[in-house]
Amino acid sequence: MKEKNMEIKNISVIGGGTMGNGIAHVLALKDYQVNLVEQTEELVNKAVKNISANLDRQIKKEIINLEDKNRTLKNIIAISGIKNIHAETDLVIEAIYENKDAKLKIFNEINNIVKQDSIFASNTSSISITELSANNRPEKFIGMHFMNPVPVMQLVEIIRGYSTNNETFNVIKELTLKIGKIPVEVFDYPGFISNRILMPMINEAIYALMEGVASAESIDTVMKLGMNHPMGPLTLADFIGLDVCLAIMEVLYTGFNDSKYRPCPLLKKMVAAKKLGRKSGEGFFKYA
Ligand code: NAI
Repeated sequence: MKEKNMEIKNISVIGGGTMGNGIAHVLALKDYQVNLVEQTEELVNKAVKNISANLDRQIKKEIINLEDKNRTLKNIIAISGIKNIHAETDLVIEAIYENKDAKLKIFNEINNIVKQDSIFASNTSSISITELSANNRPEKFIGMHFMNPVPVMQLVEIIRGYSTNNETFNVIKELTLKIGKIPVEVFDYPGFISNRILMPMINEAIYALMEGVASAESIDTVMKLGMNHPMGPLTLADFIGLDVCLAIMEVLYTGFNDSKYRPCPLLKKMVAAKKLGRKSGEGFFKYA
């Protein structure tokens, strides 16, 4: 007889930034009980406010109605401080900033709090799932890489770490389908598939800008009109966040030990200057 996969009902999302609030939004809309964990009360309230505004946008587009919005918000519990994470949660999805040590610290901290059979997932863009899982339940650890903006984008890359077991993979694949997304199975190599291909293109666009080959507007126009990309690479970099782009290039560079992945000096300089793109109001372009 085929064994039934464990059932996911209660999900904790750690980090309520760009990705975390989107992930909480789509899960709560599908009636999962979501605990959204941020560092402070102020940050978690801000995250819930962002979700509320994004739900309003979906109402305007007639994707959902007011009742859906109210139900979704009711399904979200705001939690401040990682120590207050719900012990009985079935799945933890970590979405804090792209830094291996910070992510490891989170998983080390929650491993003793959260019940032993719950699954740990990371929304990392590039950090090795095998390395993140080394100390904490490696068989029940997986990569769940949502795309930005989460309520709009269909793909979820599901990354199997070296030790991820089949049950964990199947449960996460099933959950992804239940929330209306398309799962794609990927194995654990730097940048997985999406960022291994996307980021070197963005990095090259930044080199072209640094070398004065063309203006930022022209580079984006070439890729939009010439390659039929919906968004130029520099606009996309601003949208993702230049700090995130740099962190991913560093992972590719060190992960493959190959100079073809060296991050562009202009990207490094802009991150140092805190020109992080849309979220800081300025990147390759300016935002109101
Ligand atoms: P972000 O900087 O917008 O949000 C990170 C959030 O984590 C912040 O709100 C911060 O307060 C919170 N945080 C930090 N430490 C915490 C802690 N100890 N406890 C609770 N909350 C904590 O970052 P973003 O863009 O949402 O990225 C999150 C993850 O998703 C990263 O691993 C990134 O690589 C990945 N990702 C990002 C995409 C993007 O387009 N920005 C796309 C796909 C994945």
